[in-house]
Order: sequence, then structure tokens, then C-alpha cells
Amino acid sequence: MRSVRRATVAAALLLAGLFGIAAAQESVPPPKQEWSFGGVFGTYDLAAAQRGFQIYSEVCSNCHSMRLMYYRDLSGIGLNEAQIKAVAASVQVPVGLNDQGEPVNGPGTPASRFKSPFPNDLAARAANNGALPPDLSLIVNAREGGADYVYGILTGYQDPPENFKLQEGMNYNEYFPGHQIAMPRPLQDGQVEFAGGAPNATADEAHDVVTFLAWTSNPELVERKQMGIRAVLFLTLMTGLTYAVKRKIWAEVH
Ligand code: HEC
Repeated sequence: MRSVRRATVAAALLLAGLFGIAAAQESVPPPKQEWSFGGVFGTYDLAAAQRGFQIYSEVCSNCHSMRLMYYRDLSGIGLNEAQIKAVAASVQVPVGLNDQGEPVNGPGTPASRFKSPFPNDLAARAANNGALPPDLSLIVNAREGGADYVYGILTGYQDPPENFKLQEGMNYNEYFPGHQIAMPRPLQDGQVEFAGGAPNATADEAHDVVTFLAWTSNPELVERKQMGIRAVLFLTLMTGLTYAVKRKIWAEVH
């Protein structure tokens, strides 16, 4: 009898604990956005992805690495060889060791990985109030809500509601679980100037950089969709054919 009661109490405590966590983590689902790469026929808006890469380079790369990316990968968003060489050569990356065995830097090449802002996670935390800026290579896949969530984070900075206790060095964000995020608001209206004069309000910048991050997370998305469409077409054709054959064979049987 007593063990039953104990089990009930334990279950109640567990539930209370779970709800407690849910309340503390209370997260607001980010609103759905229109994405060029959404839906069955979606493809990446390459101009937006290129602007997104510019935003990553000028803003996000001061804190976030993208260790899975190589400069040559940028051909996937339409940069040509000369452009890729120029982009890579504009950063200094580790290129090897000198005679004393010390690491030396030199201009990057298309085969270089994207330059990381910090030598290691400890240094990254030390520069960011103890919080680790996550690697962004796969961020759109790594977060529930994907592109909409990342867009929500970039546009969700607000003044905290009254009575909200914001810790030292933290920022209020509508869509971050628990609402306290260590990342200071990274995008402002007009922060990044685009060559073609594309719109650059915070929302436009967020949209472009998320298009870029969606591409780095799923570079083969478009091929996969096209393959799917071809498979469906093929199966439809085969169904029609087999049905025609079946009718022909059975036509004489009565
Ligand atoms: C000044 C440094 C800094 C800059 C610049 C910066 N971030 Fe961050 N970012 C951080 C830190 C620190 C965190 C970890 C926040 C935390 O865990 O509270 C973070 C977290 C994130 C997250 C993850 C949120 C989550 O769900 O865990 C995303 C996505 C993100 N940043 C995207 C970006 C993008 C895109 C840019 C460029 C437009 C950018 N950041 C610019 C420091 C920065």
C-alpha cells in the first residue's frame, strides 16, 4: 500500500517538475515566414543567399564559426571562381607551421575552411559573457522551427515586460526559450549595405541571412525535391501504362 502511495507521490513530483521546466522554458512559437525554398517546387533565391553570406561575413562571423563550410562551397549560391578566390584571399587563415613549429597564417584559398572568429570554445565563451555562440553551419536543421525560428531570434529582440528579471549582460528575446539570450541584438535597420541597393531593414537582413543559413544546412535540398518530382512523374506514368496493359490483356477474357 505504502509503495503505491510512494509511486503516486513520485509521479506527481515528476509531473510538477516537468511542468515547472516547461513554464521556465516557456517558448513562443515563431511566426511562419514565406521562404523561396519552401514547398514542393521551392528553390533557393540565390541573390538573397549571396546577400546573406555578406551579412554573415560582416556581422555574424565576428562571433559564430561555420566549420563545415569551405570557400569553394560558395559556387552553390552562384559565386564564380574568381569571386570565390577573392573572398577566400581576403581572410587570413592558418596555412601551416613555420620552421619553429609555430602556426602561421596566410591568405585563404577556395580549399580553406571558413575562418573561425575564435581559436577554441573557451576563448569564444570568454568573449561572450560565458555563453558559446553555436557553429552556424547546420543551425537551421539543429533548431526546432528551423528557418522560422532563426528568423524569429534575429527579429525578436524587445524591451523586457515589466517584472521580468533580466540577468546581467542578457537580452530579452521573444522567441528564445526562457527569453534571456546572451547574444546582443545582431541586426539593425540599414546595418549592411548591399551592392545592388537591396532593401536592408532588420527584417530584410534577417530574411537574407536565414536564406543563406538554410542553404548551408541543406545545400542539396533543390536536387532532392527535383528527384522527388521526377519519381512521382515516373510512378504516375508507370501506373497509367500498367493499367493500359492490364485492360488490353483482360479485354479478351469474358
Ligand atoms: C557579439 C557576438 C555575436 C554576434 C555578432 C552574433 N551572435 Fe549569434 N549568438 C551569440 C551568442 C553568445 C549566442 C549564444 C546565446 C545563448 O546561448 O544565450 C548566440 C546564439 C545564436 C543562435 C542560436 C540561438 C539558440 O537557439 O540557441 C543563432 C541562430 C544565432 N546566434 C545567429 C546569429 C546570426 C545569424 C548572426 C548574424 C546576423 C549572429 N548570431 C551574430 C553571439 C553573437
